[in-house]
Amino acid sequence: MLGGTTEASALAKALAAQPRYDALLSLAGRTEKPAPQSLPTCVGGFGGAEGLARFLRDEKFDLLIDATHPFAARISQNAAQATTITGLPAFCLRRAPWQAEPGDRWRHAASVQDAIAQIGSAPRRVFLAIGRQEAHRADAAPQHYYLIRSVDPVDPQPVLPHAHYLLDRGPFDVEREVALLREHSIDVVITKNSGGSATYAKIAAARALGIEVMMIGRAEAPAIPTVATVDEALAMINHLLPPG
Ligand SMILES: NC(=O)c1ccc[n+]([C@@H]2O[C@H](COP(=O)([O-])OP(=O)(O)OC[C@H]3O[C@@H](n4cnc5c(N)ncnc54)[C@H](OP(=O)(O)O)[C@@H]3O)[C@@H](O)[C@H]2O)c1
Repeated sequence: MLGGTTEASALAKALAAQPRYDALLSLAGRTEKPAPQSLPTCVGGFGGAEGLARFLRDEKFDLLIDATHPFAARISQNAAQATTITGLPAFCLRRAPWQAEPGDRWRHAASVQDAIAQIGSAPRRVFLAIGRQEAHRADAAPQHYYLIRSVDPVDPQPVLPHAHYLLDRGPFDVEREVALLREHSIDVVITKNSGGSATYAKIAAARALGIEVMMIGRAEAPAIPTVATVDEALAMINHLLPPG
């Protein structure tokens, strides 16, 4: 299982409890201190789709699960290609995107650059909640104040005259997110439409405070059969690898 998400960790826990599965969880190695996992893990890339295909063959796996983040596009492409190369059964565990609710003030963006461009030239107070990998995009609009939250430090830090860096890891709750948005007088939140509950509190907090959200959409749907929940994933595994 290719992981790096809350759902991958939950599925790993469920699989670890079933002795008939011999499963391995693969992490990219982006996080300095990854959360403890219930399955044996390997860390680091495979060397593209071909490398992943070779690994799957050499280690004699029967099934590949892509449970990576909806915005981790390259590894999902690699997973789809590796299943074409090997002919191995595969599916994707991908949580559904968030949907706007009454009271939400969402604007849609195609990418982090697009979201930053859309907030305009007048200085604003921005909660940049997109992780550390693309935080440097804020360089393009240094007139804004940025609250930048990530699990690990942003390195190198973008050259910004008004920025506050915050290290924290979800799940987050709405009350604390409301307090954070107030403390920093935030007037716009930039987020990816990741879906799931662990990081949804900032969306609910923005709604409660009437704050605008720049919602970055997902680029493409996975190229392999897809389920949205851990229970559906377990049913799919049972279907693809029936007992006996
Ligand atoms: N992108 C996000 O917003 C985001 C947010 C939260 C968590 N994550 C998690 O962080 C990880 C990296 O995300 P990313 O956006 O940097 O990925 P990416 O751009 O799609 O992948 C870049 C490369 O990293 C390696 N890789 C990625 N995920 C891997 C995994 N689970 N196991 C082994 N190798 C992996 C692969 O290297 P090789 O080609 O050498 O195999 C891949 O080509 C993913 O596991 C994802 O689930 C991403």
